[in-house]
Amino acid sequence: MNIVDIINKKRLRHHLAKEELEYAFMGYLNEKIESYQISALLMAICINGMTEEETINLTKIFIDSGDILDLSSIPGIKVDKHSTGGVGDKTTLVIAPIVASCGVYMAKMSGRGLGYTGGTIDKLESIKGFKTALSEEEFLKELRDIGLVISSQTTSLAPLDKKIYALRDVTGTVESYPLIASSIMSKKIASGADKIVIDLKLGKGALIHTKEDANKLKEILIKIGNSFKKETRVIITSMDNPLGNNVGNSLEVIEAMEVLKGNIDTPFAKLCIELASNLVSMGKNIPMMEAEQEVIKVLKNNQAYHKFLKLVEYQQGDINSLKISDQKIEIRSAKNGILKGIDAKLIGEISMKLGAGRLTKDDTIDHEVGIVLNKQVNDKIVENDLLCTLYVNKVKDEFNIREAFIIE
Ligand code: URA
Repeated sequence: MNIVDIINKKRLRHHLAKEELEYAFMGYLNEKIESYQISALLMAICINGMTEEETINLTKIFIDSGDILDLSSIPGIKVDKHSTGGVGDKTTLVIAPIVASCGVYMAKMSGRGLGYTGGTIDKLESIKGFKTALSEEEFLKELRDIGLVISSQTTSLAPLDKKIYALRDVTGTVESYPLIASSIMSKKIASGADKIVIDLKLGKGALIHTKEDANKLKEILIKIGNSFKKETRVIITSMDNPLGNNVGNSLEVIEAMEVLKGNIDTPFAKLCIELASNLVSMGKNIPMMEAEQEVIKVLKNNQAYHKFLKLVEYQQGDINSLKISDQKIEIRSAKNGILKGIDAKLIGEISMKLGAGRLTKDDTIDHEVGIVLNKQVNDKIVENDLLCTLYVNKVKDEFNIREAFIIE
């Protein structure tokens, strides 16, 4: 086999056999294929796509490049959830304790944020002492003991995806749905859960911008799940506006805790309830209506909130350590009108520039900074109304944040 022939085949829209994909991708992992060659193949895939069979084969190659977490020692159905990423997306912090409170095991490996989207692990690390790197033994013990665990992804799971994702990030090859689908599903399947819910973000602040692409991605995600005998549900949700009111690490943990304390009338809380209900419905094999009733019950009676505190304590975090910077910049409206939208991407980028996110993977982040949105979409705005509050530390700049508020 020859890598140039494989690249040419994909460039000419031919089907690649599993052995050819394996030769190219595993060759890259084993440093036998150069990064410029695999980059050319990734670009050809981006432009010409992959068949269902190729996508499933690539997923298998990613999975087989590392270990598969064995959760079989934990009784019952184990569920997992993944979001394709967005601004202000702290749903895992709410959903995992809800699902565990309903009696379904939730084993979650999460990531760190890069660019304008945040990562669950960074959010949890705003709680001092919270241990995010767990050994397999610790992961399984916690899952068995309290019904949930959230840990950073070990390097042994799907290492090929990690290496390819880093390359996609710098070669303009992220936005391809066969590549996104195989990347997501390989990590989920290697993490060992039996049933999976994917929160597929669609909109200006998401990877996927059209309904058509979202539906194509949904279809292939479900097909990959089925081919590995993992029931998979995909919920397409909007990411035109930031999710919830708070963007930034400590701020997002605080907002998640508000929902867990039973404040469930916000669009963000409603999304958490929808995702959690799907997980409970799958985990217990019960209809959605019944699952939703259980979810609302554990939110209203504070069981989910106490489960979250238990998770923090088990992973050695001190919940009282959560801190927001005491330096604020208030941003007020220069005009009257209706708030038609809030540009999620711009809010995410400015939050990152304030220090809440990282531009390169080696940047350190400031957990105390971020943005609180003081107005919601469709609110009436009067000149001088408070639009948002920036919590700042080292970088004291409002950037062009007013442009994120579309007032007409
Ligand atoms: N999330 C992933 O894990 N992989 C992708 O390719 C895109 C989003």
